[in-house]
Amino acid sequence: MLYVGSLIAILAISNSGCICFLLNTNDEYQVWLTTGDMTKKLNREPSCMVTNNHHGYSVWVDRNKRRQTIDGFGAALSNSAAYVLFHSPNRHVIMRDLFGTDENQLGVSYLRLVMGASDLMAVDAYTYDDLANSRDTDFNMSHFTIQKDKDFVIPVLKEALVINPSLTILASPWSSPAWMKMSHKLFGGDFNNGQQYMNAYALYFVKFIEAYQTEGIHIDAITIQNEPLLSRDDYPTMNMNLDVTKAFIRDHIGPMFRKRNINTKILVWDFNWSGAWFPEALVNDGAVKQYIGGVAWHGYDGRHDAPDAFHTKHPDVDNYFTEFSGGGWDGGNFSALLTSFTRLIFIGQTKSWSKNVLLWNLALDEHNGPHYHVGGCGNCRGVITVPSGGGYSKNVEYYAMGHMSRFVKPGAVRLETNNFGWDELQAVAFVNLDGTTVIVVQNPNTSRPASFSLDIDAKHYQYNNLPPQSVVTFVK
Ligand SMILES: *[C@@H]1O[C@H](CO)[C@@H](O)[C@H](O)[C@H]1NC(C)=O
Ligand SMILES: *[C@@H]1O[C@H](CO)[C@@H](O)[C@H](O)[C@H]1NC(C)=O
Ligand SMILES: *[C@@H]1O[C@H](CO)[C@@H](O)[C@H](O)[C@H]1NC(C)=O
Ligand SMILES: *[C@@H]1O[C@H](CO)[C@@H](O)[C@H](O)[C@H]1NC(C)=O
Repeated sequence: MLYVGSLIAILAISNSGCICFLLNTNDEYQVWLTTGDMTKKLNREPSCMVTNNHHGYSVWVDRNKRRQTIDGFGAALSNSAAYVLFHSPNRHVIMRDLFGTDENQLGVSYLRLVMGASDLMAVDAYTYDDLANSRDTDFNMSHFTIQKDKDFVIPVLKEALVINPSLTILASPWSSPAWMKMSHKLFGGDFNNGQQYMNAYALYFVKFIEAYQTEGIHIDAITIQNEPLLSRDDYPTMNMNLDVTKAFIRDHIGPMFRKRNINTKILVWDFNWSGAWFPEALVNDGAVKQYIGGVAWHGYDGRHDAPDAFHTKHPDVDNYFTEFSGGGWDGGNFSALLTSFTRLIFIGQTKSWSKNVLLWNLALDEHNGPHYHVGGCGNCRGVITVPSGGGYSKNVEYYAMGHMSRFVKPGAVRLETNNFGWDELQAVAFVNLDGTTVIVVQNPNTSRPASFSLDIDAKHYQYNNLPPQSVVTFVK
């Protein structure tokens, strides 16, 4: 330590080899680093970056080219996720880590809820209007209830909202109630597109939004149907084809939301990058488009820049990224996964104009569950793993997300940055509402460190030797 008058300065050797002040000076970017070799995991690093001795890549950030506004980052509070959080003996510690907004907490700012059941269930599948005999009907929703959500989903959600009151919430159904389907069951089948059924289903969404509002929980957006072209007979799924989706939006849920002054956004598609033709057809129909609040994408199939291409064609339609999961199929290699989650999902989707970036389960137990029904994903990995015996561990998803969610706050605006090749440096920049600038840079190369300067505000902030397959966030 060096004493300069009354000022205590902590000297440190930065990775660029220079001696610098760890304390923040006015012109200093904070540096947070995760390395592919796992020696640093969202570590605060010393920095001393202002220099005229530029070499390596030039990452320029243009403050005048403001892009989309960010709503937040997070994952789904699936039934299983809520269950493991609710029952953990360390629940309060874990909840503060996930939803807290201090610089050492994850800062989850956006959650996706499942309206009723998905494949990741701790209890038997349900909806909010189940009838003992699914050949009966309840067009007036007289049996509607969110009671089962009150067992642990809503309590966890309320605790999250206490920690971070500005959480944004999206909800998606995997299936309508069984009686509204041609199959009369939750597991697979087509939605019954009879007028009375469509009207009842629109009312179901209204009742859901109102019931949650009564609990003090505002639903910012819904998607019409999770993965609308996927029907499986071993877990809750439903087909809702293009024509049915059009009619449901145009003649039922759209007008009903408008008439009842429900400002919850209606998002469409909620399925893979490869299926852009589906939302394309919806927004090309003006009578449908007037009710559409955006297109939601999943990252399991197709090119990661499909939403960017969609934006080029439809600059007035917002993009959302609502699901991607790691799991048993992906090898579990930290450096490879940190690279793919950052490049394709967190940097890739924000650069593709997405207003949010959501992963699938926020938390799962040590057996990738609970997983009440056999079907669906039996080996998905949560953002964190919460074993039933206590404790928790942070998975690679936590770090990939944390490089943004800790620092890029709701209301931030993305700033234009330049692009390098696919195997070269990846970078994205944001400015928060409080004026702080956040720049996330990744080196995807498997063997070579990368040096670069951040070219912003007519300065060159030089950063040397970002290790292979590593991610760094700069904050000032
Ligand atoms: C459903 O509601 C309508 C309008 O409020 C009412 O006329 C009708 O009797 C109700 N039907 C049933 C089965 O409750
Ligand atoms: C992606 O969406 C298309 C519909 O456009 C569907 O046919 C296909 O099965 C989906 N792929 C996956 C992996 O779910
Ligand atoms: C992890 O993947 C990287 C490539 O991304 C590779 O270089 C490394 O050897 C892999 N590690 C293990 C333990 O397989
Ligand atoms: C890493 O960089 C070296 C040197 O530029 C290049 O030859 C190599 O192809 C890159 N490897 C990967 C996996 O990007």
